[in-house]
Amino acid sequence: MYKIIFVCLGNICRSPSGEGVFSHLVEHHGLSHLFQIDSAGTAAYHVGERADGRMRQHALKRGIELTSRARQFQFHDFEKFDLIVCMDRSNFQNIKALDITGEYDSKIVMMTDYAQRMDYKEVPDPYYGGPQGFELVLDILEDSCNGLLERFVRDA
Ligand code: 4NP
Repeated sequence: MYKIIFVCLGNICRSPSGEGVFSHLVEHHGLSHLFQIDSAGTAAYHVGERADGRMRQHALKRGIELTSRARQFQFHDFEKFDLIVCMDRSNFQNIKALDITGEYDSKIVMMTDYAQRMDYKEVPDPYYGGPQGFELVLDILEDSCNGLLERFVRDA
């Protein structure tokens, strides 16, 4: 079982979508049994909440249901997961800062490192913007999650 956690700031927009997009993809390929997939936020503002209603609507238009409840990233997640996939540079730096000994350095990656088609260096925060921001998040996530699964299959 390969364990992946997607991480953003609030765990109500980008990382629940990463979890949803990747879960949908592995189900489509009949590979669900190989993965444990979760998400978390570096901040605690929205703990216990469902994903943002706008994010859920946009995801649903692509056939993806977001069912997660927000939680904050915990130190024991470093042990629990094989790969910690960060949405933007700030999330990446916050997670790196929690790993004070650097023991988990090789597990911490950027979502956009796996993008194949789209040329973005991070998944932009859609929270204070309009509908196109949510669509962009999903476009980048679909591309990057495809790349992540391909990398996994190739390296397996
Ligand atoms: P997320 O988006 O990190 O993709 O879940 C945000 C959600 C909430 C806030 C910022 C970003 N906030 O400031 O409350």
